[in-house]
Amino acid sequence: MEKLEVTGAKRLKGTIKISGSKNSSLPILAATLLSNKKIKISNLPRVKDIETMISLLKSLGSKIKLNKKNKSIDIHNLKNIKTFASYNLVKTMRAGILVLGPLLARFNKAKVSLPGGCAIGARPVDIHLKALSKLGVKYKIVDGYIYAKAQKGLIGNVIKFPKISVGATENLIIASCFAKGKTILKNCAIEPEIMDLINFLRKMGCSIKLTGRRTVTILGIKTLKDLSYKIMFDRIEAGTYMIASVLTGGNLKIINIKPKIIKTEIDILKKIGANIKINDTEIRIIGGNKIKSAKVTTSPYPGFPTDLQAQLMVLLCKGFGISQITEKIFENRFMHASELNRMGAKIKIVGNKAIIQGNVDFKGAELMATDLRASVSLILAALTAKEKSIINRIYHLDRGYEDIEKKLRNVGAIIRRVL
Ligand code: UD1
Repeated sequence: MEKLEVTGAKRLKGTIKISGSKNSSLPILAATLLSNKKIKISNLPRVKDIETMISLLKSLGSKIKLNKKNKSIDIHNLKNIKTFASYNLVKTMRAGILVLGPLLARFNKAKVSLPGGCAIGARPVDIHLKALSKLGVKYKIVDGYIYAKAQKGLIGNVIKFPKISVGATENLIIASCFAKGKTILKNCAIEPEIMDLINFLRKMGCSIKLTGRRTVTILGIKTLKDLSYKIMFDRIEAGTYMIASVLTGGNLKIINIKPKIIKTEIDILKKIGANIKINDTEIRIIGGNKIKSAKVTTSPYPGFPTDLQAQLMVLLCKGFGISQITEKIFENRFMHASELNRMGAKIKIVGNKAIIQGNVDFKGAELMATDLRASVSLILAALTAKEKSIINRIYHLDRGYEDIEKKLRNVGAIIRRVL
């Protein structure tokens, strides 16, 4: 199995170009199932989750032409799309559940595997299913599969999500595009990736409006248009490299981004001691000042993202004094803490809080990646240690970070993949 070898204590200097957003590409790719028109999508990141979603779409009968060089894809779905998403493809990637909404919208029926558990928490899909039932969907769960049907087609309704869920908001927005009449979705997630999905659907001809801070109103339509669409930047990847710069006392220019979308992250990093210069599509982030302690709570956008929690924890281990992170989105998302402690960190987990003692000098170690963002947090810690670290199970990393070794090597890191 492939591993990463990292030898740290090097200041990172140079420019990193941020790739397209994985979490935006996934729902947009799923939404292409709505259409039988020609669709071109560009700026897709070359990561495993996107490959899995493309395999899932192909297994459903999508006609897809990949252009690897410019990371674009042409999709033209003919009529013979299947409505069965198998366990094999959905089990490795929770976002597979996002095909449920478009299949129901277009064909009024679907059989989709339950995505199953995940290292960072139970991650059920009850909110997706209950909301779909309010659009007229009847469903049952048998042998790990969701069998869903809308006998009379989907019918618009007013739905208030009991909890903010990114995936449920996406599934319901997509499903509602063809629902008869008006659908009003309340208490929606408003992550930038959801705005990207809405922009994509609008360009495809759907009628979707933000009618309140967390309210989305959709008018059912019947026909769609050809379109060409560019995916937004990956804000979690951007945040990860920003943290890498501060951690190593580095000087990185992060390009191909929209800084105003990541204002929360920028403000927190500034408070912790980063020197950040911002312009329209890039930032320069310089470390080297004393890193301060902080109290941070993860929450839905525009709050601090749970997907950057592990990376921030590494930085706070270097802070002056005691820091605290409260994880409000996933109940079991501190798996990285014990690995970081093996590198010398002093992190104590109490319920959904991590109490982090600062001033730590990380020591190289042999480590185990447990999930996507945990993997990258181990790389970050290893980048500050003089000794060599070996990180196992990096397939987690390959699900979501495009060319990470190359990008880090280009700015001075010593990192290589070994068998
Ligand atoms: C998405 C992101 C993931 C990110 C997360 C939170 C993608 C592909 N993934 O995941 O990277 O960490 O948002 O920002 O975009 N929940 C339920 N029932 C449901 C659905 C969710 O209880 O039916 C709970 C979850 O267990 C979790 C919380 O709601 O505790 C938020 O989850 P959700 O926003 O749905 O996350 P995902 O869409 O799976």
